[in-house]
Amino acid sequence: MTAACSKASEHTLVMKNNCCLTGLGYYVPEKIMTNHDFALLMDTSDEWITTRTGIKQRHVCTHQACSDLAYQSSVLALKEASLTPRQLTHVIVATFTPDAFIPNAACLLLEKLGHRNIAALDINTACTGFIYGLELARGLCMLPGEANVLVVASEVLTSRVNFADRVTCVLFGDGAGAAVVSSSCHGAAGMSGRLVDVNLKADGALGELLTLKGGGSAHPLALGDTVTENFFVQMAGREVFKHAVRSMYNVSMEILERNNIRSGDIDLVVPHQANIRIIEALAKKMNLDPANLFVNVQKYGNTSAASVPIALAEAKETGRINPGDLVLLVAFGGGFTWGSALVQY
Ligand code: UT7
Repeated sequence: MTAACSKASEHTLVMKNNCCLTGLGYYVPEKIMTNHDFALLMDTSDEWITTRTGIKQRHVCTHQACSDLAYQSSVLALKEASLTPRQLTHVIVATFTPDAFIPNAACLLLEKLGHRNIAALDINTACTGFIYGLELARGLCMLPGEANVLVVASEVLTSRVNFADRVTCVLFGDGAGAAVVSSSCHGAAGMSGRLVDVNLKADGALGELLTLKGGGSAHPLALGDTVTENFFVQMAGREVFKHAVRSMYNVSMEILERNNIRSGDIDLVVPHQANIRIIEALAKKMNLDPANLFVNVQKYGNTSAASVPIALAEAKETGRINPGDLVLLVAFGGGFTWGSALVQY
């Protein structure tokens, strides 16, 4: 590449680093399962679930699949971004509970949106999926030309939860959250947020602590096999808990430091909603004012990748985010994967 070319491309990248969340939306299925409902089915109680997790209820699918939830949240995000589906340039779906291995959930979503001939891909980084999706969208927004990337996180966790395992089955719920990430902030109907930075991490050495193995090529199923426990989410809860707090703290402090921001400058932290005790431990370590934390785990349980975009969209909808606010997103999940993002409204 000549010096002139490299200068021009640098200039283009700088000029285009204007990546913006122009629309948000979320959707949860109608049916609600309360802690009391679980207590009728197994040896558990509202008291145990509430004190150990903060969860009071979760929404569960009866007939909808991942792409159905994704579609509902996408329609709302597109409306807020003042875009039609045909104006999308890419569709990314973060999920580990897709409708099927093939076709991927993004292709199914694209079809439901009535669009075609653009890129549509799924990513699986478990509960960190939305933040990974934001980073991919940010990269796409820096390429030449206009980009409107739909980043959706959609999970039907209840399709892969073992209802005979009281430790895991009470934790999860179904839902989807979507964001339109555009190469400029112009034209959106609502308040847009500039995607300032994203910080992603992974460590495969710890993968065994949180798994969903059955049906994968290392654990194939043959015709007539019955499924065993490994067909469902399995987790070493206490270990995962410790790593979640430590990793979310580190990845949050790192993104703040490299942007010369103090934790006191953050107007709202939107953390992954897995367990109220994890969120409170993170807040304590970061010295955050509890008023600057967004929590909705009591209503939805842990919706994996969908939890951050559901919480972000709900925070915006309920007036918890105002013009000028600096918002920190942070998540942790299987893999392990973890990540943070800064959004300036
Ligand atoms: O989204 C990805 C990241 N995921 C997470 O971050 C989840 C992290 N882990 C956790 O949130 C917690 O570890 C759990 C909520 C999963 C479990 O809480 P815990 O305080 O770590 O409980 P534990 O697994 O150590 O179990 C304590 C006791 C056990 O009884 P004993 O052995 O002390 O007699 C369990 O059998 O609680 C019992 N127990 C229950 N009791 C009533 C476990 N689950 C239940 C239940 N109802 N549903």
